[in-house]
Amino acid sequence: MSTYVKNTSNASLTVRPLGAALGAEVLGIDMRRKLDQETMRLLNDIWMEHLVLVFPNQHITDLEHVEFTRNFGEPEIFHQDIIRSKSVREIFRVSNVDENNVLMPLSHPTARQVSLAQFWHTDSSYRAIPCTGSLLHGIEVSRTGGETQFTNMYAVYEALPERLKLEVAGRRALHDFEFLQKQNSLRPLTDEERAAMPPVWQPLVRIHPGSGRKSLYISPIYNEEIEGMPSDAGRRLIAELTEFSGQPQFVYSHRWETDDVVLWDNRCTMHQVTKFDADERRVMHRTTIVGDAAVVAA
Ligand code: OGA
Ligand code: MN
Repeated sequence: MSTYVKNTSNASLTVRPLGAALGAEVLGIDMRRKLDQETMRLLNDIWMEHLVLVFPNQHITDLEHVEFTRNFGEPEIFHQDIIRSKSVREIFRVSNVDENNVLMPLSHPTARQVSLAQFWHTDSSYRAIPCTGSLLHGIEVSRTGGETQFTNMYAVYEALPERLKLEVAGRRALHDFEFLQKQNSLRPLTDEERAAMPPVWQPLVRIHPGSGRKSLYISPIYNEEIEGMPSDAGRRLIAELTEFSGQPQFVYSHRWETDDVVLWDNRCTMHQVTKFDADERRVMHRTTIVGDAAVVAA
């Protein structure tokens, strides 16, 4: 697909598809300005078509980032007191640099938790109503790796071999925030944190409310089991689905430039970040759009 231009009364958007699987770059948006309804509707259509949008050269503050997020819905606030920014609480600090601007070693609990984004997942799938999308702002970007990879879970579902389609049909997976902690021997959750995020069952095949299309819905770092299967068989199925989902024909890999903002749809994509040198600073700030409806089973 080649570059195209879409106009509204107030804006001209240039859309450049980034790969065969998903993703497009969008020029013509300044996130410091409020979007009018017509432009917002167009932007939403472009997002629904490409699933992941890259907006280059967005020189935004955290507050502007949060305000822009409100075009899409309410910003989520992280339920743990790490990762969440102390100054702007809607910001998730996806960073190996602490709030005193000091590089954290990989052994630091926050750095370790952030580094688990190196495995395929979809954001806040452990919430009873998971988020719709996320907006990640590259503030200090990596040059030694640190690319963010996105996979198109519509295409994954459609391409599943019949045997796997039958295995996932009508089944649910458990999404548990604590599974991340347990698997990676992070600090145990406090009673309060545990109570805030009880495990939830979600369908393995979901219908997107915007497109009506089916996608495979897994978030492997949180998926502890599959309904009606012995634990080890459930884990094996999740591993097999994860491997299938990460094949290159379904993936777009984003190499960051400073002040890129990337918007993705957590309802039909997964993402992960590639490895980078632990002594290289990487500072990324994320907002997350609160979900507006329960997940719909296919
Ligand atoms: C995230 C995430 C990947 C990255 O912000 O949700 O998984 O590239 N980040 O930092
Ligand atoms: Mn993530």
